[in-house]
Amino acid sequence: MNDFAERLIAWQRSHGRHDLPWQGGHDPYRIWLSEIMLQQTQVDTVIPYYARFLARFPDVASLAAAPVEDVMALWSGLGYYARARNLHRAARDIVDTHGGCFPGSAAEIAALPGIGRSTAAAIAAFAYGERAAILDGNVKRVLCRIFGVEGFPGDKAVENRLWALAESLLPASETGRYIQAQMDLGATLCTRGKPACGRCPFADDCVARRENRIGELPTPRPK
Ligand code: ADE
Repeated sequence: MNDFAERLIAWQRSHGRHDLPWQGGHDPYRIWLSEIMLQQTQVDTVIPYYARFLARFPDVASLAAAPVEDVMALWSGLGYYARARNLHRAARDIVDTHGGCFPGSAAEIAALPGIGRSTAAAIAAFAYGERAAILDGNVKRVLCRIFGVEGFPGDKAVENRLWALAESLLPASETGRYIQAQMDLGATLCTRGKPACGRCPFADDCVARRENRIGELPTPRPK
């Protein structure tokens, strides 16, 4: 398929999510906070936490200056508390070693505590338009199904194949919208349980659907 990104972007324009509180702007701090909160938590749960957190810590400097207890208190109820501790550490790193200026590339962002390759790419794409591929759980599922990638995606070798595929599919421009489109397709149509293939722009191309293997792709963890 040589027009995957183009079609996905077109689908995002008409069917993707456009009104989430972290969309529309390009402030890397706000985008970073949203991506960390969204790592293990659903959108609906994140929204009120995100608003409270930003009201109290509107920028990197205010977060770095706060005692960690205040940060943890605002995270209370969201779970996966290492995320909050790393967020606070990263804010202090940014102040101490980047002069308070959020790092300007995915590679530098990935060096901060609590930020992996995929999250760093998402932040750089949304904030700066950097052309960088993401590969979170949703994207792995989408790619495994549409392109018929075999093998457990948690395996290093399979993951490497998926990264290469994700890189090869990147559009020349509009990376931010493309990445949001991948997230939206995985979260709203190509879901784990009962995907809405009838509404999917790739239904006719999807290997899993064509071969009637929606339940088998992605390949489950070997027993
Ligand atoms: N999950 C992770 N990042 C997201 C984003 N930017 N929008 C919606 N859901 C997400």
